[in-house]
Amino acid sequence: MAVERTLAIIKPDAVSRGLTGEILKRLEAAGLTIVALKRLRLTREQARAFYAVHRERPFFDSLTEYMSSGPIVACVAAGDNAIQRWRDLMGATDPAEAAAGTIRRDLGLDKEKNAVHGSDSPETAATEIPFFFSALEVE
Ligand code: RTP
Ligand code: MG
Repeated sequence: MAVERTLAIIKPDAVSRGLTGEILKRLEAAGLTIVALKRLRLTREQARAFYAVHRERPFFDSLTEYMSSGPIVACVAAGDNAIQRWRDLMGATDPAEAAAGTIRRDLGLDKEKNAVHGSDSPETAATEIPFFFSALEVE
């Protein structure tokens, strides 16, 4: 199994409800290591750049408006198979369809305000991590 790094984001709906600690607790309890962490608020343009892969999707404007609506917490999590393990902890995109015990099922509000983000492949992680962190900021 490969030691990987993934970008995890605690989205505005979860930060505003005081769920940062609960979500980071679940990440660490699963054996992943936090190797970088920051709280920030994206501008609309930064959110559009981060989610550029979705620019043709019907939900793009709403998603990027929401992701820039308040502070987020961005985190780099490391561990064996970290990308898939974090996505397993998150659960399906729509909280209503996410498995019991997942973060989105337990804490997500709806298909958009679904509490967390995770990179979906090593290639995605390799572009998403430097979007938020300089090499100096990642252990
Ligand atoms: P993420 O990228 O945030 O980790 O989530 P994901 O892979 O599970 O879902 P993705 O298809 O990449 O969609 C990115 C985010 O866009 C919002 N979304 N809204 N209204 C909708 O139909 C819809 N579909 C997706 C969600 O916030 C989703 O996490
Ligand atoms: Mg995605």
